[in-house]
Amino acid sequence: MHTTITDQLSSATLLNERMLAKLNSRTANIGVIGLGYVGLPLALLFAEEGFPVTGFDIDRNKIDTLASLHSYICRIPETEIALANARGFRAISDFMGISKMDAIVICVPTPLTEYREPDLSYVTDTVKSIAPHLRAGQLVVLESTTYPGTTEEVVVPLLEKGNLANLRVSRNASEDSNIFFVAFSPEREDPGNNTVARSEIPKIVGGVDHHASEIATALYGAIFRRTVPVSSTTVAEMSKLLENIYRCVNIALVNELKLLCLRMGIDIWEVIAAAATKPFGFQPFYPGPGLGGHCIPIDPFYLAWKAKEFDFATRFIELAGEINMAMPYHIVEFIAEALNVRSKALNGSKVMVLGVSYKKDIDDLRESPAITIIEALQRSGAAVVYNDPYFPKIGKGRKYDLQMQCMPLDQIGQYDCVVILTDHSSYDYQMIVDEAQLVIDTRNATSGIVSTKVVRC
Ligand SMILES: NC(=O)c1ccc[n+]([C@@H]2O[C@H](COP(=O)([O-])OP(=O)(O)OC[C@H]3O[C@@H](n4cnc5c(N)ncnc54)[C@H](O)[C@@H]3O)[C@@H](O)[C@H]2O)c1
Repeated sequence: MHTTITDQLSSATLLNERMLAKLNSRTANIGVIGLGYVGLPLALLFAEEGFPVTGFDIDRNKIDTLASLHSYICRIPETEIALANARGFRAISDFMGISKMDAIVICVPTPLTEYREPDLSYVTDTVKSIAPHLRAGQLVVLESTTYPGTTEEVVVPLLEKGNLANLRVSRNASEDSNIFFVAFSPEREDPGNNTVARSEIPKIVGGVDHHASEIATALYGAIFRRTVPVSSTTVAEMSKLLENIYRCVNIALVNELKLLCLRMGIDIWEVIAAAATKPFGFQPFYPGPGLGGHCIPIDPFYLAWKAKEFDFATRFIELAGEINMAMPYHIVEFIAEALNVRSKALNGSKVMVLGVSYKKDIDDLRESPAITIIEALQRSGAAVVYNDPYFPKIGKGRKYDLQMQCMPLDQIGQYDCVVILTDHSSYDYQMIVDEAQLVIDTRNATSGIVSTKVVRC
């Protein structure tokens, strides 16, 4: 096809080259939308590498907290916010600023509805807010975990429909000029795990076309030591789900084996430690009171839902979900049984729960099994209190309204039972066992402590 000089000057290839030059010189304006557990650290990482970064969020509290140089995520120190601020990082809620961005990264929640179906409303709301401000040559990357097809089937059509300049997504036609670029890149952070620096976690990138792939790879290559370009957005989307389904299924397996081991009088923790000495073909997973967090209990069901469109039943996901979801209720039964052995009824007993976050040493309560367990204990008539150094109080969440205050540990002996749900490193487990009347340990936190007061389950 014949193209004019003007066309060539603003072709996809040229837009691509301009973006690469801006990324290489660290002058590309980076916009991060959704400044939560994923978005805020990402924005700070770009700022640390010298990029001009703007954060966008609809939560005024977060914007105000960041403006006053405070942090709302405990693993992010205020010094890091102050440093980013000094480098020009700003957080705003006005999406007008989107047009000034060269790359826009979306890190908003992807929860399930009450019927356990994907709730993409945060993603679609965000994309609809971006679309009117879109301009030619911009890159939009979705980082929120979701089912394969979301980027191409949901994000791209909304951007194409909602922009005011009749822009289309780039699809390998290098002569097009009225285009923007779209990619998907999954977030792989492991909260609370300080053994791998965030920038050391390889970053998977899949673009809608080769231009988007190249630009998105350059974007992340600037802050991550290794990027892993894949052939499509769907491969990138599916790879994230595979990682989380792998964890979900293996945790379910070990949870089920724990229930069997308890019945057979075998110590599952010793079994896992022994099996883990095999230098190949075995990765240890550990049982617990149930799954928590915004990822493992949720993401697999995004795929299970999408699979139905293809007349496909994802049986491993359903079975793992069934086993993991039942775990909090098993824990309540174990507590009732342990009290019963001591001639006490759960109804009327005073129970202290230790640790409510969904895993150790983090300040995240989302989908925590502790909530389900506390509610079930209360329904059975127990008087429940809790202690967690990360939560001075528990208020109202999406699915609960507990209104509880963190209780001190100094009178632990007054409770009929202490239940360790989250094995925070800061707890003195020897003291807990010494002082408590009865300890139900769901995490093997008291391993090595020999006492008839401890029941491990
Ligand atoms: N938390 C993790 O460890 C983790 C790890 C890997 C992947 N993920 C995925 O990353 C995504 C984000 O998770 P998160 O834990 O950071 O969530 P989060 O709830 O901590 O943060 C999301 C932020 O997005 C903001 N937001 C919501 N709608 C918005 C809108 N329309 N415009 C602007 N901002 C909006 C919220 O106010 C919030 O600050 C999810 O898809 C999650 O599955 C999370």
